[in-house]
Parts: sequence; C-alpha cells; structure tokens
Amino acid sequence: MCGIVGYIGVKPIKEILIEGLRELEYRGYDSAGIAVLQNGNFSLFKAVGKLVNLEEKAKNFESDGFSVGIGHTRWATHGKPTELNAHPHVGHNSYVVHNGIIENYQELKGMLTEEGVRFLSQTDTEVIVHLFEYRLRTEPSALEAFTKTLDQLEGAYATLLVNASLNDTIFFAKQGSPMIIGRNSEGEIFFASSDAALIGKCQEVLYLEDGHYGCATGSEIKLFNAHHHEVPLHFTPLNENKLSAQKEGYRFFMEKEIYEQSQVLIDTLMGRLRDESIYFEELDAALFDGIREIKLCACGTSYHAAMVAGYLLERHAKIRTSIEIASEFRYREPFLTPDPLFIVISQSGETADTLESLKMAKAFGLKTMVICNVDNSSMVRLADASLLTRAGIEKGVASTKAFATQVSVLWMLSLFLAGERKTLDTAEIKRQIQLLRLLPTTTKVDNDIHEQLRRLSKRYLHGHGFFFIGRDVFYPLALEGALKLKEITYLHAEGYPSGEMKHGPIALADPELFTIALLPQHKLYDKTKSNIEELSARDSTICSISPLEFDKADDHIRTQHADDYMLEFFEMMVVLQLLSMEIAVRLGNDVDMPRNLAKSVTVE
Ligand code: F6R
Repeated sequence: MCGIVGYIGVKPIKEILIEGLRELEYRGYDSAGIAVLQNGNFSLFKAVGKLVNLEEKAKNFESDGFSVGIGHTRWATHGKPTELNAHPHVGHNSYVVHNGIIENYQELKGMLTEEGVRFLSQTDTEVIVHLFEYRLRTEPSALEAFTKTLDQLEGAYATLLVNASLNDTIFFAKQGSPMIIGRNSEGEIFFASSDAALIGKCQEVLYLEDGHYGCATGSEIKLFNAHHHEVPLHFTPLNENKLSAQKEGYRFFMEKEIYEQSQVLIDTLMGRLRDESIYFEELDAALFDGIREIKLCACGTSYHAAMVAGYLLERHAKIRTSIEIASEFRYREPFLTPDPLFIVISQSGETADTLESLKMAKAFGLKTMVICNVDNSSMVRLADASLLTRAGIEKGVASTKAFATQVSVLWMLSLFLAGERKTLDTAEIKRQIQLLRLLPTTTKVDNDIHEQLRRLSKRYLHGHGFFFIGRDVFYPLALEGALKLKEITYLHAEGYPSGEMKHGPIALADPELFTIALLPQHKLYDKTKSNIEELSARDSTICSISPLEFDKADDHIRTQHADDYMLEFFEMMVVLQLLSMEIAVRLGNDVDMPRNLAKSVTVE
C-alpha cells in the first residue's frame, strides 16, 4: 500500500524521487514526502493528497551535484492522512521512511518519551528515527546504532534512513516488507519497495531478503544478514516490463490481490484489537445512542459482505439488522423509522446507487456510517462516521481483498457492539479476538491448494451451470463465489442456500450441473451434508470444499481444520477466488478486465 524510493547520485534528485513515487502510485496513497540531504543540509517536503501537491511544495527546490534522498507515498493506517503523519519522519538530524508496522512502537515510544524525546506524529514509524538517534549517543558508529535499532524493532518493515553527519549514506533494512536496491553503470544507487520504480533507471537489482540490512554510499554497499554477518551482493538483471513489475511477479492483479489478502488484513486489524474489546479510533460511541436497528445497504460484492454482517450483528450484538440492495432501496419507497443506524458498504465509496441511498438516509434524518476502502471518497465525506477497510488500491475488476477486509471490519463491528450492549460475555469476545488475529495466517494462499485448483479447473469449463451452495454465512459466501465465477469466466452460476435446493433448483441436477458445496466443519455440517447428498443422488457433479473428507463428492478440496466457522469462511473465500481465476485463465479470458464490467459503477 505504501511506497518507498531512495537515490544516491549526481542527477536532479527531486525529479528522480518523485518519478519513482509516481511509478508506485498504483499501490494507492493519501500523502507523500521526500527528504534530500546535500552538503550536510536537509530539505524536506511533504503534502497530503496526490503527487502534484508535493511537486507544488517542492517547486523551488533544485539540487546541485551529488546528493542522497528518500521518498515515500503513504496510505494511512496508523494516524490520519495529515502532513505531520506523512513520511519522511524527522529526528534531530536524521530522516526515515518506512513501510509495514512496528508492533512494539507503543512500548518504544514510552521508553523514548521518558528519555525526553518529543514525538510529532501519530505514526509507529517515528520511533525508528528517534531510537536510532538515541542509540547514536552510545554506539561507536552510525551503522552500529542502526543495527541496534533494528534489533529492538518487532513487526514488519522496509525502511530507509539518512543522517546529516553522513551525507553520502543511506541505511536500509528489510523485514517482511519488500525492498530492492538498484544500480547502473553511471554509479547511481536506487532503492524502491517495488521494481516498477526502478525500470529505465538501472540495469541490475538486488532483492533484499528478510533480516537483510546495511548501508550504501555512492562507492560502496555493505549488506548484512539477520545474524549480523556481512554477505556478498547478488545483483540480477532487471526485468524491464513495467506492467509485470506492478504485478510483482503475479500473472494478474487479481492474483496479486488474492495473495495480498493476508498482508492487508494485518493493516485492517491493526490498532483495532485489544485483549478483550474492539477499538475503533474513528468512532464516537455516541453514534450508537438511541440506535435500535441496523440497516446495511450496498451493491455486488459489498452487498454480500453486508449479508455476512447480517448474521454476525444479530448473533453477536443482538440487534435487529436488515440488508438492502442499494438499487432496490432507492426506488422501493422504504418505510423508515428514525432509530436505525444506516450503514453503507463500498470499496470505492463512489457507487452511484449506494451513494444515493446514503443521501436518502441522511435526508430522512438517520444516523449514517460508511465502511469503505477509499478515504476522501464521496461516501466517506458524506456519512456521519466511517470505518476504513485499509485494503490498499484494488485493481482487479473482480473484487477480492476488498471483500475480505469488509467482512473482517464487519465482524469487528459486531464484537464492538456486543461489548457495548453486553450481549456476549468477555470470554467469548476475547476468544473471537484471538480468531481475528489468525486471519492473516488463515488467508495465506496454500500453494498445494492453489496447484490443485489449477489442475481441477480443466474439469469445469463446460456444463450448463454452477450452483454454489452453503448455509448461514456460507450462503453469502456462495453468492460471492458464484458472482466471481460469472464475472471472469462468463459461465452461468448461481448461489443458493443449501436448504433451498429441494424447493425447485434441484430439478436442474444432472452430471452437467456443477455444484460447488461449502461444507464447513463448524457450522451446520450435518444439515449441509444431507443437502449435498440430495444433489449427488440426482447425479449433479459435486466439488466439495471442507476440512472433512466427503465420499459423495466427485472432487474434494480439503481445507484446514480450524477452530471456528469464521476461520473456515475466510479460507473457503480464498479457495473460491482462486477457483474462478483458474477457470478464467483456462478459458483464455481477461482476468483483470472482464468484458462489460467497470471497476467503479458511478452510473445507475
Ligand atoms: C464484484 C464487484 C462489484 C462491486 C460493486 C460495488 O467483484 O466488484 O460487484 O462490489 O460494484 O462496488 P463498491 O463496493 O465500490 O460500491
């Protein structure tokens, strides 16, 4: 989501850093900044919004000869998108940029504050620069101070740091977040968090591994591993294809976004999980005063997330919940009472029908909230309150990571309200918070399952239709699986509650009807199993997805044994996304830009 660039060399540095950041724009950001060190003097520019704002701020700055510099585009996760929170962050005479999360930043901040350090921003990043300067007081060299700083950081990071006393040096480190060093025959050194920013600038790149850190000057790069041993530099030629660089090695943006879910969920959960409660920095508890009902309203995939929330809000928070398709809500002359909280869900924050529904609810005097992925979007600006899903920019037209983050925010909201309304006991809230913490692991793509789906996909290219079936929250997941399949394979698919098949749809069952059956271990297993058996008995071809073996299935995708149905939900979600993608690939379709579809539907 965030982007990092760095440069050591003699060319105009401002232009190089901003050009590099422009290549990383596709990742999404809401503020940007650069810091340049020349002849021992720093120049710092930061701006909220697009890079043109940064260019405007820095328009009178020109470098002259050799300099070093670092730059960053930030997608707010910790602290609002303000200039103070934008990177680079500044110490006394050092500057730092960082991607990732410093998990123990509160503890480090506390320790440094006691030592008299004053913090300017709300970010976790700022501790890096202060800790470095604190270490510099006692360590014999800046490199040792940097090493000791890294030893104290917990979490994921890619970081660049510059210090005024070493005006030819950039310190770098990678742990869990990508970082690349590039060099060219003109002796220039580049840093970037994605090789998209390096194309056309250097011929060779070195992809840092976790635990790698070191320092670079115009003449030398020193690289160390996690055991503090110096290691040789293995540069490789840079692949010059920009689009594939933006896809970071994946074939499609959709594939990249499926694989990214595990990482973006870390961002979604960050700062929101306490031991026994959910904390939303953005929410004023007064928003819920007098609220006796929740109305959720959305379109498409976001509507499916709303349906999942319908189960969770009633189950956990014991609050009456209704779910509306925005295009229907607008024109059905709804009867509204003053006591619901009206929540719209939207990845883009711009979908016309959802936006108009929000306006209607506001005009009626309802309290409103939006769950959205895009800060500053029309819905975020209009609603009384907003919760950001923090999925980063989503490029694939078929929504994947946006859905995962929406469901996780809605799950957290159900627990937040359960806490406020005392409808779940503390032990249960605590248990579910532990489950939420497992989401990044649960959604990590299992290579064996992906390979199995790649192989299986060849059996599902024809037929007269697909039924995706499930019960409870697995019903909206079935709807979402069917929608994904339709969007990118152009095959006919329907999602159904498993128990509803015998009320009509089962008439379609024959070997050319493919049933994708969601069979979780921890939610209505026996009931769902009987429904699938009924379909199997009528010769439908069954592909079951379950941690438990199922002998009536023609194909079986075995998921992990999890402790709870919500973890099963998230793992099955990944399976369904990959299955659709692999079928679409075999059919030769454009996975990222399917026919007739647009990413943001701003017309009715
Ligand atoms: C499906 C998909 C669409 C969107 C729908 C609403 O993969 O992306 O169904 O979910 O158009 O869009 P947002 O969430 O931006 O309001």
